[in-house]
Amino acid sequence: MTDIISMVPRRRVLAFASLATLTASWGQSLLAAAAPLKIATIGAGRMGGALGTAFAKAGHQVMFSSRKPEELKDLVTAAGPNARAGTVQEAAAFGDVVVLVVPYGAMPEVARDVGKVLATKALVFDVSNPQPQRDGDIGVKALEQGPGEYLMQLMPGVRIVRGFNSTNWNSIPKPTRPDGGKLGVAIAGDDPKGLEIAQGLAREIGFDPVVVGPLSVGKYLYRPSTFFNGSQSADEIRQIAPQLKK
Ligand SMILES: NC(=O)c1ccc[n+]([C@@H]2O[C@H](COP(=O)([O-])OP(=O)(O)OC[C@H]3O[C@@H](n4cnc5c(N)ncnc54)[C@H](OP(=O)(O)O)[C@@H]3O)[C@@H](O)[C@H]2O)c1
Repeated sequence: MTDIISMVPRRRVLAFASLATLTASWGQSLLAAAAPLKIATIGAGRMGGALGTAFAKAGHQVMFSSRKPEELKDLVTAAGPNARAGTVQEAAAFGDVVVLVVPYGAMPEVARDVGKVLATKALVFDVSNPQPQRDGDIGVKALEQGPGEYLMQLMPGVRIVRGFNSTNWNSIPKPTRPDGGKLGVAIAGDDPKGLEIAQGLAREIGFDPVVVGPLSVGKYLYRPSTFFNGSQSADEIRQIAPQLKK
């Protein structure tokens, strides 16, 4: 959590820097509770719901969003007191970190509605995957261009990190392997601060993160690439990383 604190925007750093110092020797979860990040999810379906719930239970303030936020009451109740729901615009304004968990076909709408706001954030964590059979031409274009590059063109200035793309939503609450070890998670991005925050958040919810390369290799984190299957350990992911072509 301490490394995450150092990576959020300056106004938030100043607000909780002294708390971080005071609580440096406390346990990780207690520190999270003392100095939470504000995390927004754009998309609150299976994956957005699972990730947001895990972040809320780790002590962060979470705002789930949907085009129909009134339908998120059960999710908010299950995620506990750190969670709330809002519109996409409200969530984008709320988060220091924004997690994108929508079908790729929704990205132009997201960019139009909140792209400029997202460009002010320390991290936009892109968990979404282009799937042509679901996302049509946008899915095809994002796959050809690379999803990270596609988003950068759509939302200039946004600090994108990709991660959790091959992790199944139902393993988020219990990220363990059959041998009892932690599940690894591959992360790709160009922005050092964004990468640090993303790794810290992954660790806090029980995953073992591995930075596998720049944003350009983020296209390998999910199908049609066959490198990752969501059940690998961090060591297995480290062995795969050198094979990913930029
Ligand atoms: N499911 C998984 O295990 C998994 C794992 C890794 C990555 N992913 C990726 O994560 C993304 C979401 O998958 P999912 O399984 O969570 O899908 P899902 O359960 O169908 O949820 C999709 C979410 O996207 C929102 N959404 C759709 N269009 C939107 C728009 N124009 N503006 C704002 N929000 C919009 C929906 O909200 P409303 O319709 O209520 O507005 C809903 O909350 C996909 O790109 C998927 O490939 C999924």
